[in-house]
Amino acid sequence: MSELLAVTRDLFDDVMVPNYAPAKMIPVRGEGSRVWDQTGREYIDFAGGIAVNGLGHCHPKLVEVLKAQGETLWHLSNVMTNEPALRLAKKLVAATFADKVYFCNSGAEANEAALKLARRYAIEQFGEHKTQIIAFHQGFHGRTFFTVSVGGQAIYSDGFGPKPGDILHVPYNDLAALAEVISDKTCAVVMEPLQGEGGIIRATDAFANGVRALCDKHNALLIYDEVQSGVGRTGALYAYQGLGVTPDILTSAKALGGGFPIGAMLTTSAIAAHFKVGTHGSTYGGNPLACAVAEAVLDVINTPEVLAGVKQREQLFRDGLAAINAKYHCFAEIRGQGLLLGAALNDDYQGRSRDFSLAAIEQGLMVLVAGTNVVRFAPSLVIPEADIKEGLARFEQAVAQVVQG
Ligand SMILES: Cc1ncc(COP(=O)(O)O)c(C=O)c1O
Repeated sequence: MSELLAVTRDLFDDVMVPNYAPAKMIPVRGEGSRVWDQTGREYIDFAGGIAVNGLGHCHPKLVEVLKAQGETLWHLSNVMTNEPALRLAKKLVAATFADKVYFCNSGAEANEAALKLARRYAIEQFGEHKTQIIAFHQGFHGRTFFTVSVGGQAIYSDGFGPKPGDILHVPYNDLAALAEVISDKTCAVVMEPLQGEGGIIRATDAFANGVRALCDKHNALLIYDEVQSGVGRTGALYAYQGLGVTPDILTSAKALGGGFPIGAMLTTSAIAAHFKVGTHGSTYGGNPLACAVAEAVLDVINTPEVLAGVKQREQLFRDGLAAINAKYHCFAEIRGQGLLLGAALNDDYQGRSRDFSLAAIEQGLMVLVAGTNVVRFAPSLVIPEADIKEGLARFEQAVAQVVQG
């Protein structure tokens, strides 16, 4: 066995490409909604690995399934299919509008597949002119060059040379702006039903319904990116089900694997038919380890108890954050849905979300930011009430630290 290397945070700066700035501490163990670092210090996890650990850390059911699959079959590639992938696909189809599923490894890959499929569908059905993709300001769809170009923050897509073309951005929740640009040249409109990275902003009912109607009018596909909002996060299995608007293509990743990398694109048979053998692919897509874990995630999360529990926990967070704000007056509003919540900073604290997340770490709490003005919470969907209370108490200390300078 190779000798274990002593690992310090400095090693990150020595050997890693510097595109991340991780916290000073290095977590080494997790259980439920608690995490321990190298020194044995314990943290409460309100970050959930950026909305990934829907069942917390090392959920016993997921550990059991991963161990069993690890002793059975790891990988085949798509030259063969496998039982876990087909079981998972069957369950996703049964639980959603979709007839067909494509598996990959991440949110960006699921969106890449969705965008390519939408383009191929539109070109084959309506002609070469129908390639325009409309997306929204502040939207986030991943970091491949196509998905980051569709994302609505140029800061992430500039500086890499010529971008994929025929992509337009309009303001989110602004139906008139969309109506002005959408046309029969539009092949797809891509949106997050609840913008995550962009600041935790929900689509209004009128906007969501209006986008659907405009897509129908112009034969454009509606793609819902549910990479962050999906798999129970809003209290429905997928946010579209709560909104009552059905997309043509839906992408899922993050919490789908509960921490094991997997992505999925869901669609109807008629649209799926435009991906023929060889049109698109991924070596790892539908990997048995990932699919076995995701099947277990779905079995646990897609139950009335867990989904109702998300809404109960949302209320605990909202009440606790409102109480903190009543004392410290730093939030303009608490927004979002289910367990994807954002505390939007008021005018006095603009640009300082990172100060809050760093103070939280000092207090033994992991939270996220969504841009520079929003503190984001995306905890486990089954986080115990005691951990919510203790985490909010720690958050109050962090807020006090920032407010009192
Ligand atoms: C809505 C949304 N889409 C896509 C992605 C990209 O997912 P991944 O990082 O797994 O590629 C993210 C990641 O934050 C996301 O929030």
